[in-house]
Order: sequence, then structure tokens, then C-alpha cells
Amino acid sequence: MPSTGRYNGLAIGLHWTIAALIILQIGYAWWGLAPLKEDSPEQAQALAFHFSIGLTILLLSLARLGVRIAAPPPPLPADMPGFEKTMARLTHTLFYLLIIGIPLGGWVLASLHPDPIVYFDLFEWPHLPFLSGLDKPASHALHKAVGAMHTVILVWTTVVLLALHIGGALKDQISGPPVFWRMLPFLRPPFER
Ligand code: HEM
Ligand code: HEM
Repeated sequence: MPSTGRYNGLAIGLHWTIAALIILQIGYAWWGLAPLKEDSPEQAQALAFHFSIGLTILLLSLARLGVRIAAPPPPLPADMPGFEKTMARLTHTLFYLLIIGIPLGGWVLASLHPDPIVYFDLFEWPHLPFLSGLDKPASHALHKAVGAMHTVILVWTTVVLLALHIGGALKDQISGPPVFWRMLPFLRPPFER
């Protein structure tokens, strides 16, 4: 099929749904979850919500990757400078690693504990195998390493990348070649204006 220059409807729907969920997830983790008392019923409830949103992000991100492989994205605008193309490709690739890697890391953390992972009060989500059977020192070491990646390093990488991503899209929108129309179905391509 010839490329229209626009992402397909499914890729667009998934992009904006995942973007909204990631922003909700980070905001909720920082301002809803973090202040709660360790091992309190409120924390358990907030964590269950955090797990459910995070696992939804994991499923949607895998679907997004599948859609990308099945229907490759439109090529970047031909008049986009080479450096910007490289930056855009790098940012997009890192984003895919983050939106899959962060929830996978969270799943590892949740699997280290024997408590069940309940998906939106609907069903029990399986633990990753073998992790709850680890001895105390191994479980502690894994929790420390994956916890630091999950809660600080990768989340801050996402925030910095998001600023670059939005900044890059806005800059192109203002000084060209514009890109927003490629990800927003209600905007007309520049050549139709
Ligand atoms: C954490 C949230 C976000 C993530 C993870 C994300 C991720 C991505 C990825 C991976 C792509 C490339 C798609 C592909 O080639 O498969 C993309 C494209 C795009 N994103 Fe985001 N995005 C996020 C938020 C946003 C926001 C808030 C905006 C608006 C300001 C935005 C605007 C765009 C635009 C305009 C494109 C198309 C760029 C092009 O012309 O190729 N994104 N995004
Ligand atoms: C993109 C998705 C996700 C993001 C952005 C994210 C982000 C975060 C952040 C920022 C924290 C730190 C909160 C605090 O300071 O107390 C956190 C904690 C945690 N997250 Fe996630 N998370 C995601 C998905 C998941 C998933 C899918 C799970 C499990 C199924 C999970 C399990 C956990 C656990 C167990 C903690 C507590 C870690 C600890 O301090 O022991 N997360 N997450």
C-alpha cells in the first residue's frame, strides 16, 4: 500500500492512549503512591491500581510494536535535516524500550512478593516464574537493582525523553517540516492547505 505520510489509525490510537496512560502512571506513582505509608492497606490498594495501569501499558505497547512491524510507519519527511531524523529515530527506539522495559521491571518487582497481582479486581495476573522462590539475599539484591531502574532511572529517562520528544515535534511544527498532522487524524497535511 502506498504511504500517505500519516501513521495508520491503530498506531495513532495506540500512541495517544499509551502517552496518556504513561503520564497518568508517573503522576500517580509520584503524587498518589509514593506518599503512602509502607505496608498500609491504602498502599496495597494504590499498588494494585499501579500494577493494573502498568500491565495495561505493557499489553498496549506490545500491540503497538506488533502494529509497527506489520505496517511500518511512514518515512520521516524528506526535507527533515539528517540530524533531526537521527534524533527522532533514536528517541522513538528508546521509547519502545522504555514503555516495554519499565512495566516488565515492575512485573519482576511484584513477582518477588508472594502477594497476588490482581488486574483491576477482574482476575489474578500470574507471577513471573521462579522469582518468589528465590532465597532472601538473592531476592533482596534483585529487588534493589530492578527497583532502582524501575522507580528512578528509567522513569526519569522517560521524562527527559518526553520533553525532547514534545520539544522536537513543536520545533518542527513551528519551523518545519511539520509533523503533528502525521499523528493527529484531524490535521490536514501541509500540501493540502
Ligand atoms: C510518554 C508519552 C509518549 C510516548 C511513549 C511517545 C512515543 C512515540 C513514538 C515511539 C513515536 C514513533 C512512532 C513510531 O514510529 O512507531 C511517536 C511519534 C510521535 N509523537 Fe509521541 N510519544 C509520547 C507522547 C507524545 C506527546 C505528548 C506528543 C505531543 C506533543 C507526541 C507527539 C508525537 C508526534 C507528532 C509523533 C509523530 C512524529 C513523526 O512525524 O514521526 N508524543 N511518539
Ligand atoms: C510504564 C509503567 C510504569 C511506570 C511508569 C512505573 C513507575 C513507578 C514509579 C515512579 C514508582 C516509584 C513510586 C514511589 O516512589 O513509591 C514505582 C513503584 C513500583 N512499581 Fe511501577 N511503574 C510502571 C509499571 C509497573 C508494573 C506493571 C508493575 C507490576 C506489575 C509495577 C510495580 C511497582 C512496584 C512493586 C513498585 C514499588 C517498588 C518499591 O519501592 O518496592 N510498576 N513504579
